[in-house]
Amino acid sequence: MKDRFLSYAGPYRELMAYYRCAMMEVEAKFKVLSEELSLQYDHNPIETIKTRLKRPESIIEKVSKKDLPLTVESLENGINDIAGVRVICSFVSDIYMLADALLKQDDITLIGRKDYIKEPKPNGYRSLHLIVEIPIFLHDHKRLMKVEVQLRTIAMDWWASSEHKIRYKKDLPVKVLEEIDKELLECAMIGAQLDKKMEQIQKSVMDKSAK
Ligand code: GTP
Ligand code: MG
Repeated sequence: MKDRFLSYAGPYRELMAYYRCAMMEVEAKFKVLSEELSLQYDHNPIETIKTRLKRPESIIEKVSKKDLPLTVESLENGINDIAGVRVICSFVSDIYMLADALLKQDDITLIGRKDYIKEPKPNGYRSLHLIVEIPIFLHDHKRLMKVEVQLRTIAMDWWASSEHKIRYKKDLPVKVLEEIDKELLECAMIGAQLDKKMEQIQKSVMDKSAK
């Protein structure tokens, strides 16, 4: 048991270090874009960037849910969200602009895209999700790593983090849960309206200042 554990521990730690490097690379790309676009557009399109590495417990949970063998290779091939970068933007249009700018870069490969802004989840969740592959340059070789990028507005992020906290308590009667889901959906719709309104105000200010 101890030998088996130790034979996994080294390669696992190594893989997690590579994912951390990949998150740094993606974060750096967004920081560069933010710097450049703030000069060009007069506003910084990025409010905050957060990175997170999936916790070992969550990795194990996903491995058993997907019925994957517990090997470093199967983690890498079978789980796309071990490395996560979340980009919080001021306006919805910034999300698409940043996603396009990232995907145009010649070292980035798009593996998957889910647009929960155009088509929100039934519970109201909105965000743009990209799974990208990015190279990390190690001392003697290059390695391609997958990173999940979530792009959202402040309103979308507020809703998602509040919903996550509220829905975490699942030991409530079905009737109560249904009522909560209804209210959360309502909040998501209000959030979407606020995003739309803010976007319109920003656009009209830009149009007026261009004249
Ligand atoms: P996961 O197994 O959870 O990664 O789901 P998936 O592979 O079907 O991917 P999806 O793109 O739907 O969601 C991935 C991530 O988006 C989640 O890990 C959350 O961070 C976020 N997310 C998706 N749906 C919701 C939701 O309903 N509420 C909140 N708060 N976050 C969500
Ligand atoms: Mg996930």
